[in-house]
Amino acid sequence: MTEQPRVLIFDTTLRDGEQSPGATMTHAEKLEIAALLDEMGVDIIEAGFPIASEGDFAAVSEIAKNSVNSVICGLARANYKDIDRCWEAVKHARQPRIHTFIGTSPLHRDITQLSQDAMAEKIHETVTHARNLCDNVQWSPMDAIRTEHDYLKKVVEIAIKAGATTINIPDTVGYTIPRESAKIIEMLINEVPGADGVIFATHCHNDLGMATANSLAAVEAGARQIECTINGLGERAGNTALEEVVMALKVRNDVMPFRTGIDTTKIMKASRLVSTVSGFPVQYNKAVVGKNAFAHESGIHQDGMLKNAETFEIMRPADVGLTDTNLVMGKHSGRAALRQKLKDLGYDLADNQLQDVFVRFKALADRKKEVYDDDLVALMRDTVAGEDLDRIQVKFLRVICGTEAPQSADLILTIDGKDQQVTAQGDGPVDAAFNAVKKLVPHNARLQLYQVHAVTEGTDAQATVSVRMEEDGRIVTGQSADTDTVVASCKAYVGALNRLLVKRDAGRPVSYKDVG
Ligand code: KIV
Ligand code: ZN
Repeated sequence: MTEQPRVLIFDTTLRDGEQSPGATMTHAEKLEIAALLDEMGVDIIEAGFPIASEGDFAAVSEIAKNSVNSVICGLARANYKDIDRCWEAVKHARQPRIHTFIGTSPLHRDITQLSQDAMAEKIHETVTHARNLCDNVQWSPMDAIRTEHDYLKKVVEIAIKAGATTINIPDTVGYTIPRESAKIIEMLINEVPGADGVIFATHCHNDLGMATANSLAAVEAGARQIECTINGLGERAGNTALEEVVMALKVRNDVMPFRTGIDTTKIMKASRLVSTVSGFPVQYNKAVVGKNAFAHESGIHQDGMLKNAETFEIMRPADVGLTDTNLVMGKHSGRAALRQKLKDLGYDLADNQLQDVFVRFKALADRKKEVYDDDLVALMRDTVAGEDLDRIQVKFLRVICGTEAPQSADLILTIDGKDQQVTAQGDGPVDAAFNAVKKLVPHNARLQLYQVHAVTEGTDAQATVSVRMEEDGRIVTGQSADTDTVVASCKAYVGALNRLLVKRDAGRPVSYKDVG
């Protein structure tokens, strides 16, 4: 039997995913995600954009040093400074890759004020330079889908001649449809001289909800690398979701006979980790990893499931690493049970971390009779969020609320190790608590989003609160969970402020326009 063609999985959660507004990750969080991606069989990890900041450079370098099986890739714009910096970071990997790109569509040529010929020359120079440093070079014509086909063919040929080994065709704005995505890949493979010596990649954004379909169509047309992110994290509506393309190739192997090297039983763990770290909750009905992806409520469905799971499920929960979720924890559960349960959920904790979580778990179990998996995930999210971002902490909060306005909040924050107390009033308990925080930590950040989710059912359910704030173009999110919604709100707000302080220290993001 002939072996099925292999499709390479290129994960860009740490680069394109981390670029999505508010999804900033700490150094330790990036290393943890990279280790898991490597372990689950991701072929290429795009670890960051080394020129963007000292933090990005340090993360890419360390991920490169720690890498085991994956190729480690860094992003660079079309200039020598970016490419040199990228090489300095990725060169520590067993298998390094430089990924350099430039916007080739008329809109992008206009922004960079380069004529077609001047841009072609720049592509030749920069890809040659990258290839002189590294044997493995990926080149991307950003906004390829909206680039004139003749010009696209011309620049792809130039990049191949200059030494690019992978040509990535991005649908930067999520504009294409499956038939067009396939046609462009087919055209390049058939008409560009030298195309048979390189790998073509597809990189799709999800603005019209077609990223996964467009990626799969590109594979059918000959692309052999799919760029994607865990949970589809990414700018705007995000990217192709790793879990969707990998499971689609697995489940529909009959009509798409391609294989990937991904251990799918690690998918749920990766999804939970990225959700925890990015602060982006996974929507309930998200394909493959959503809370409802394997839930059956209607009588007919439940009956069918009991008789034969295949009646209403095209994959088994265990295929993506979902273990039995019925084991409910309570106040009598001990450390060993908690450790095992967290392990099943994808959290491998050191003894000191377990101790901290155990104390929080007991406090929760005292307030809540049954602690479900989702409660524990929320608790972990809260613990991880609090670990690195501890310049400001909520020490005490008491709110007086009810039918008589105004509501008032007494608050103690520990700021850089010193307790500070204040009382403030507001229009409702959350407003009062936020006003109290603002009195102690004055700022000009604008609240863009305030969202409350009940994690489980019942009036004693934990609430997860998400807060998104913006200051001078910097966007941050904070999340917290508690059985008291006002406490969770206050902690989420403080969490976002902590992230803002981290972002202020890190400086401004770099611009794609700067190619010179
Ligand atoms: O979407 C895009 O065009 C990108 C490029 C940098 C490859 O992310
Ligand atoms: Zn992208």
